[in-house]
Amino acid sequence: MIPRMAPEFLVPISAAVLFALWIMCRKPKKFPPGPRRWPIFGYVPIIFAQRAKDITSYLHKKYGRVVGLHVLNIPVVFISGLDEVREALLRDDFSGRPEYINISIFGGKSSGIILTSGDIWKLQRRFVLQHLRQLGLGKNTLEGIVQEEIRAMMIGIEEMSGGCENGYLYPVDFKALLGAVSINVLWHIVMGKRFDYRDPKFIQLMEAAKSIFNQNSQQIFFYNLFPFLAKLLPSSFGFQEFESSVHCLHDAIEGEMDSHKEVIDYDHPQDFMDIYLCEIEKQKDSLDRIFNVTQLKEVCAELFMAGTDTTTNNLSFAILNMILYPRAQRKAQQEIDEVIGRDRLPSLSDRDRLPYVEAIIQEVLRLSSVAPTAFPHSVVTSEKHVTFRGYHIPKGSVLIIDFYGVHHDPEIWKCPDMFIPERFLRKNGGDILNEAIYPFSGGKRGCPGETFARNNIFLILTSILQRYSLEVPEGQPLPSSDPIGNTVLFPKPFTVKVQRRF
Ligand code: HEM
Repeated sequence: MIPRMAPEFLVPISAAVLFALWIMCRKPKKFPPGPRRWPIFGYVPIIFAQRAKDITSYLHKKYGRVVGLHVLNIPVVFISGLDEVREALLRDDFSGRPEYINISIFGGKSSGIILTSGDIWKLQRRFVLQHLRQLGLGKNTLEGIVQEEIRAMMIGIEEMSGGCENGYLYPVDFKALLGAVSINVLWHIVMGKRFDYRDPKFIQLMEAAKSIFNQNSQQIFFYNLFPFLAKLLPSSFGFQEFESSVHCLHDAIEGEMDSHKEVIDYDHPQDFMDIYLCEIEKQKDSLDRIFNVTQLKEVCAELFMAGTDTTTNNLSFAILNMILYPRAQRKAQQEIDEVIGRDRLPSLSDRDRLPYVEAIIQEVLRLSSVAPTAFPHSVVTSEKHVTFRGYHIPKGSVLIIDFYGVHHDPEIWKCPDMFIPERFLRKNGGDILNEAIYPFSGGKRGCPGETFARNNIFLILTSILQRYSLEVPEGQPLPSSDPIGNTVLFPKPFTVKVQRRF
């Protein structure tokens, strides 16, 4: 039975409810313009209904370049436009990570690089940059590893297409092959070994990498806000799939660490994991022990998560654009023939003499914008708020920095949705346009794997174009260039007819 309320309480209780609703809908003073703040859920239902890049573009068109809204009670600020994005990336107080996210595989929010801030973040990030460079990041030693993978990929292309005896009859799914190359290169650099493509462990790892990134940002957001839901409804919102992929990566890294510990020679470290184990040993008596086994496992997991799908998807978009724009493909092949010829694989020292191939890579990075926004940043300050472009942004606000919008802004790019590598050639003003793209973000949080990824993409794409002509398979419609995905964008499935050039 519902208890009846005395009439004299009705007015004050209704007034209190209305007052509470008003408080919940109120925005902070000088908060950036944006949609109405709804009580309790805020903007959640709308966020769930759209893709991240579409929400960003909608808000930008409707409210301007700096937009504020609330998700539950969390202030979220969207930053678009070249000048605003550039300024945001340069600000130290915009380089935090939001409290609510927890995609950590091993050690919670205080380990690794992606989710941490402060000293832990600075030291882990610096260590990774310094030592991956020695192992191949930006140095020629990477070449040997990538070239080994390219040879394995060529065998894969021959097998999938039926090879020359069968006249390259069958269309090739490049995404699977490129995924295998990207994973193997990174695993080799970090763990010192590669997998055979048919190894069931490798197939499992590839599936896990795919699945972790197929989770869209909304699911991860939801997963972090309502962890109890993951336990209650494990098969909803992709939680179960996400968890099992995370376990697979977790087990693979633990296994590698155990075997490294058994055979490590501290005087002659062989790979990134060895080098990190040496650092742990060196610091074993220090009080803070910022370098420890949990950190090591988390850093390895993050390099793998951040570096494999992003590289694979950029390469897939490159292949897609090569079949959609055959003139650009032929021009690149002509340049490769003149500079490298056909008797050896491409090397990093060829890069300076292949400006058109470089322009193709830059245009792929712009057009596809595989990372459409930065990973969410947050405001770190000892004050209650910071000021940005005249607005007050509260401490702890989540910042969504929009790269896709900048990369497709018609005020910067002529025909922004067309693939036109020529715009990045120096003689056409390419140097200035290079300043307007942020595929790897920038500033203090900028991607530490940029050089590694660029080198990889260059070597793999140039090797494919050197050896094969790529076309849309006969009788098939032109594949769509419209991307899918959310946190990370990728092309819709497509296949390619390959033909050996020599
Ligand atoms: C084409 C390939 C890649 C693209 C497009 C890409 C893009 C990005 C972007 C946009 C961010 C977010 C930065 C921010 O939040 O402002 C990022 C962060 C990061 N990336 Fe990459 N990345 C790529 C490859 C790699 C590779 C190969 C590695 C590792 C070897 C890597 C490691 C990382 C790490 C550790 C972070 C976190 C940095 C931090 O929070 O300080 N990425 N990347």
